[in-house]
Amino acid sequence: MPHFKNLVSSFLLSSVIAASIILSGCGKPEPEAALKGASEKKPKSSYTIGMSQCNLGEPWRVEMNAQIKAAADKHTNLQVTFKDAQNDTLKQRSHIEEFVSAGVDLIIISPKEAQPLTEPVAKAMEAGIPVIVLDRSVLGDKYSCFIGADNKKIGHAAGEWIVKKLGGKGKLVELKGLMTSTPGQDRDSGFREAIAGTGVEVVFDADMKWLEPNARQEMESALARVNKIDCVYAHNDPGAHGAYLAAKAAGREREMLFVGVDALPQEGVGYVQQGIIDATFQYPTGGAEAIDTALKILNGEAVPRKITLGSRVFDKETVAQGGRELN
Ligand code: FRU
Repeated sequence: MPHFKNLVSSFLLSSVIAASIILSGCGKPEPEAALKGASEKKPKSSYTIGMSQCNLGEPWRVEMNAQIKAAADKHTNLQVTFKDAQNDTLKQRSHIEEFVSAGVDLIIISPKEAQPLTEPVAKAMEAGIPVIVLDRSVLGDKYSCFIGADNKKIGHAAGEWIVKKLGGKGKLVELKGLMTSTPGQDRDSGFREAIAGTGVEVVFDADMKWLEPNARQEMESALARVNKIDCVYAHNDPGAHGAYLAAKAAGREREMLFVGVDALPQEGVGYVQQGIIDATFQYPTGGAEAIDTALKILNGEAVPRKITLGSRVFDKETVAQGGRELN
């Protein structure tokens, strides 16, 4: 019997050890592709970062670059070279190749589209240059770190907000961001999940590719086709504003609610304060976090594969107190 007891306790002990080995394995950070490139290199007295921005035509992207610059300016050993792809995917592919040939120490990219930029980013990594992907993602996992807010959660929260405000039913126009970019896909799928099974019905939807003039034009078609619209959900604030302008020109802006995403103080939050739109969901640019992460990578420190930024909703009830954090 004592022999049996010993057997049981040694079995239990070894199971506990095995389980803790497995668990500690799970808790370990993923292998850091970024570190391979960075740690093999000798520390340098100064570093060059190449930043490829997909366009500078929208205030949100101007703000992202400004945040990157402000954060980098605090470090005398960092030099950032900015490139503007002017919303041209091929141009942005060339940026990455140019940064690789120039031998920059690290690349930050806010890609226009996921699929076409996946390969150049992977090639930069293979060349030993760490890459931080900001806001819109690429496919797969051949990058050092992705930084961005949870767009699915934002879409879901927007859907819940709308269902509540409309009392569970109504006719809605959805103006989507570029559907070959990840935030467009996620802001749509999260939203659709939240309204599923409710009486909120999408009566018109279109891809306005993040651009205000497109949103305005698509909204003109929606207004011509649907005689009573209760709400417009646009994937960004320029889209919500474009829709508002179209509705106003038709004398119908009071008929419906307008909801957007981004919540820049001088843009979406201002629109809510002025009563132009009814709600905006914050989408932080992640500029400062990108520089923090770049510094860690360049110093050979481990960084998580994904950094998820928080978001806040600004509506009539919460705008004066700086919005409300999404749970
Ligand atoms: C700017 C922008 C933002 C939007 C983000 C999504 O180009 O359209 O308005 O939140 O990109 O990637």
